[in-house]
Amino acid sequence: MERAFGEWVWFKGHPQPFLDLVMSHGAVPFGHCHPRLVEALKREAELVDNNYPFPNKNQVELAERLLSVAPLEQDEYEVLINISGSFVVDKAIELSRIVTGKAAIASFDKAFHGSTLSLLPATDACFVDHSELMTEASIKIPFCEESRCPQGSPSSRTCGCLETSERIIKANQSSLAALLVEPIQGSAGNILPASGYLRAIQEICERHNVLFVVDDLQVGLGRTGRVFSIENFGVENPDIIVTHKGLGGGFYPLVALIARKSIFSAVSRNPLNATVFGGAFLNNAFGCGIALEVLDILLADGVLERVKENGDYFLLGLQNLFSNHPLISRAYGLGYVIGMELTSPDEECLSRADIAREIIAEGMRQHVILYSRGGDGERIKLSPSLTMDRAVIDIALEKIRGVVATASESLLLQSVSRPIGGRNRDGTRGLAFAGSS
Ligand SMILES: Cc1ncc(COP(=O)(O)O)c(C=O)c1O
Repeated sequence: MERAFGEWVWFKGHPQPFLDLVMSHGAVPFGHCHPRLVEALKREAELVDNNYPFPNKNQVELAERLLSVAPLEQDEYEVLINISGSFVVDKAIELSRIVTGKAAIASFDKAFHGSTLSLLPATDACFVDHSELMTEASIKIPFCEESRCPQGSPSSRTCGCLETSERIIKANQSSLAALLVEPIQGSAGNILPASGYLRAIQEICERHNVLFVVDDLQVGLGRTGRVFSIENFGVENPDIIVTHKGLGGGFYPLVALIARKSIFSAVSRNPLNATVFGGAFLNNAFGCGIALEVLDILLADGVLERVKENGDYFLLGLQNLFSNHPLISRAYGLGYVIGMELTSPDEECLSRADIAREIIAEGMRQHVILYSRGGDGERIKLSPSLTMDRAVIDIALEKIRGVVATASESLLLQSVSRPIGGRNRDGTRGLAFAGSS
């Protein structure tokens, strides 16, 4: 990659740009090299760099602004700002363990919480090999999805997922410090929770003295049309919340952790815990200056509303394109957290991972950047720029239509000699499916 601007990316040897619908998994919130952020970088770089260990003006202002927009009782919380998602989720675990005196951490099936050693158990085995060699096993809870509950019922009130979750949490409560929660499972393919599920899980945690820790790293910061994704699900006052990775505007790796004051004070009471709050780039003044500009852009009039409206428009466009498609079973999403679930007419001959690979590769051939995720690559995942307007959405829809049509044709050609359900000459099972649009 040589250059990037707005929704577009230029690669070496390709004069025509590529449309970026992934944006570093949302770490670039407002399109590449947003002019206001570039200005802020220059301005801040002339004023400040690093400040450890002294508090700085930008850090104080950023903490106040985050608290003023978060769904929690402002006076009861404090903010810690540091580098990178994994590092800050690590801090959330460290705080939880110290304050509860318990060591175990629970997370959901298919969760992704980061790549540091302490996070490998909380990150699902579909994202990491050999995690069992690195650390002890973590406690896993089934995630009740909006459209496909693991226990087979469409409603979290009746399906039994809550009972299962409560049984697991209760059985482990004596050793369980915290439950890590991605409100929408980003890396698994932007999987939305069933209605009422997250709030009910929070209540279960409260009942059994387990901290409820929200990891908003991938779906927060306005991506759902609300500043924090939990606002969509009636969840308030989590014990700890880790903010989105786009807070540094895509230029600086800055993430904030907001936790109850009672947690911070219990931990800081012991002087030996000073390292919990340490780090050479802690509360970095330059990064906090960029983050303040990010919040200014996000909270300007109409920005969040447009994310919601344009997200609905994009989603409807995808649903219309693929309402009856042999390889895409459905498009779903909330704001600019969008996914498409893949399906195969015959899994033995054509896995969903193969379909995903072909769609991504065809996307690159047709100059559109897409991404697949899920246990076996069964979903295409989109996290476009929050400022993408309808004109660009129309281009995106046309490109995705073309990409899926060509990818479907080529998959059909590869399998044309193998009729569906029948046997090929070599005895292997065959595949065929209806033409694609
Ligand atoms: C939900 C979630 N938690 C944690 C992380 C880890 O963040 P980082 O890659 O900045 O270490 C990610 C990264 O994608 C994430 O999506």
